[in-house]
Amino acid sequence: MSLTTFLPRSVERTIQKEAMPAGSTPDAPAKVTAVSLQEKKKLGQPIVAVTAYDYATARIVDEAGLDVVLVGDSLAMVMQGQENTLSITLDEMLLYTRGVRRAVRRALLVADMPFGSYHTGAADGVANAIRFLKEAGAEAVKIEGTRVELVERLVGAEIPVMGHIGLTPQSVHRMGGFKVQAKTLAAVELLREDALALERAGCFSLVLEGIPREAARLITDELKIPTIGIGAGPDCDGQILVLHDMMTMTFSPPAKFVRRYADVGAVLREALQAYKHDVEGRTFPSESESYHLSQEAKLLLAGVRERDEAAVAGGA
Ligand code: KIV
Repeated sequence: MSLTTFLPRSVERTIQKEAMPAGSTPDAPAKVTAVSLQEKKKLGQPIVAVTAYDYATARIVDEAGLDVVLVGDSLAMVMQGQENTLSITLDEMLLYTRGVRRAVRRALLVADMPFGSYHTGAADGVANAIRFLKEAGAEAVKIEGTRVELVERLVGAEIPVMGHIGLTPQSVHRMGGFKVQAKTLAAVELLREDALALERAGCFSLVLEGIPREAARLITDELKIPTIGIGAGPDCDGQILVLHDMMTMTFSPPAKFVRRYADVGAVLREALQAYKHDVEGRTFPSESESYHLSQEAKLLLAGVRERDEAAVAGGA
């Protein structure tokens, strides 16, 4: 029996409200913000993040109750079929982010700043980040690497920043490929210093990608801001995956850290083959899937057709 069984409804509602995050109601869970993610770390509650690039999937992600939707520049690879993330432009990222914005109500919407949009100096980075908030409705931006000055300038311009270190895909050529990083103790120490510098600069969270579990744990334990891991083991404060990887909508063997949660590719393929079968067999659309004239209009049409046929027969 619930402890609240004998309480008046009004008292029960107050207790329920106080047990939930600020701003939430029993029907509408609270909006996730850069600040509420930090609360989650304090409370030891895992953060659940995923990428989304379009209205339909972003809407499903938001309805599923995930905390963070990232419009990642991974879209260059999974949506556009590119080999790496370098080619995607700022205008393309803005376009995709706008679609996702219209879908997301509760999750925190983070936009990835693409390669070239912040590499030419902090002033360019701030100007481009402002476009994500103003023109696309993003609530935070993510940048790769240890760019302390840029992070400080962005935070100074009221833009929440998610950092991203370890395997940073925009550095693919410098790294010599998509390779696990921080594999020596010296490299772990450098990464730890980078993480602390980004926290001091004002990042509200930090993505740790493609690093040994032990390194991710060390950094997670030292930081006050939450870490969000991808290929960084289970000890991070949260996890992020690329939606297309986890749904089997990518076409090469997945990385070791990817767990396939569904085979959406197979579901789509089967559905499309069934559609092809039905159209070719003339069983789609059916009578009930067609629009119809009213009975009266049908009779009139039949009369017109009869007259036309009679005229053709008479003229022949
Ligand atoms: O672009 C992306 O999807 C990302 C995540 C994998 C963190 O940066």
